[in-house]
Amino acid sequence: MKVKDLETPALVVIQDRMEYNLNRMIGMLGGKAKLRPHYKSHKCPEIAAMQIAAGAKGITCAKLSEAEDLVLYGISDILIANQIVQPSKILRLAALARCSNITVCVDSEENIRAISDAASAAGSTVNLYIELDVGMKRCGIEEFSEFYRLACIIESLPGVTYGGIQAYAGNLSHEYDKEKREKEAYTNRERVNALAYYLEQRGIKNREISGGSTGTSYLKADGSVYTEIQAGSFMFMDRAYSRMELGFRNSLFVIATVISVKEDRVVIDAGMKSIATDQGEPLICGWDHDSVSMSEEHATFYGKHRFKVGDMVMVIPGHSCTTVNLYDDLYFIQGENVLKKLSVTGRGKSR
Ligand SMILES: Cc1ncc(COP(=O)(O)O)c(C=O)c1O
Repeated sequence: MKVKDLETPALVVIQDRMEYNLNRMIGMLGGKAKLRPHYKSHKCPEIAAMQIAAGAKGITCAKLSEAEDLVLYGISDILIANQIVQPSKILRLAALARCSNITVCVDSEENIRAISDAASAAGSTVNLYIELDVGMKRCGIEEFSEFYRLACIIESLPGVTYGGIQAYAGNLSHEYDKEKREKEAYTNRERVNALAYYLEQRGIKNREISGGSTGTSYLKADGSVYTEIQAGSFMFMDRAYSRMELGFRNSLFVIATVISVKEDRVVIDAGMKSIATDQGEPLICGWDHDSVSMSEEHATFYGKHRFKVGDMVMVIPGHSCTTVNLYDDLYFIQGENVLKKLSVTGRGKSR
């Protein structure tokens, strides 16, 4: 099949560019920090398996249903970088940990005790990272003494093990001011290091320190503090991340068809239901248009152009992760050829 034969809108990945990004990340970490890439970016177990084959130690995801999706495919080391607190989900978590190595984040005593009870009853062990708030002001513990208290509780309970520190600073991922990004990432690193020392002085051994994103992984690559890097978007990139000049290449595109033109505008058959706009507007490759207006099923690009009705265009989304979640499948392409279709089985898995 040829790319020109795809019905649009279609989600496509230029395979060799994606592989370049994966190899670049693995090479940058150089084995000092281990890659545990985030599933949210591709939601495709076959790509997760490719990441592991290239050297990733396991996969990060956000949701229990994503972890189940990965276990079904045979992925054996999964971090759910989130708190799972609903009783029915804790039962599912404990059951899943019988089939695979499962780590989950916690930041409260009641959650730790509930996971311990469920895992003990299921005959499984769930590994726990305690989350430290490193400036994101989302989940996570702020006080070292409270962190230590929770670590001691985990070490005293059956069915759970203390696995280390979750320290993700998502507020820095897209910090376009490079100096500010690097300064704050350094401050965070020092804080995480101080916590690790504080815990070790009190007899708590830190196995892993986990965090990092596409925008900050180069600052953690030496492995001196962080042992695991959870970056996800580097595989595909998008318009928001491209602005940061991180050395990764755009590999993910929405192919759309021009359905109407005027002298000053081009309308394509892909709107907000096909291209996510939560991190900014999309871009048509090779055209420096003036502005974009998005509606549900149309995107209108304004500016001088040479397009005609029926042309196919390659669109770089503002945000690749939320765009992927709009599609049931994606196509690997190379040049004019469609190589294969992959199912986005993690799509919509938000429970
Ligand atoms: C906990 C966690 N880790 C890692 C990432 C990966 O970030 P990115 O896709 O920016 O590389 C995210 C992104 O939302 C996240 O929430």
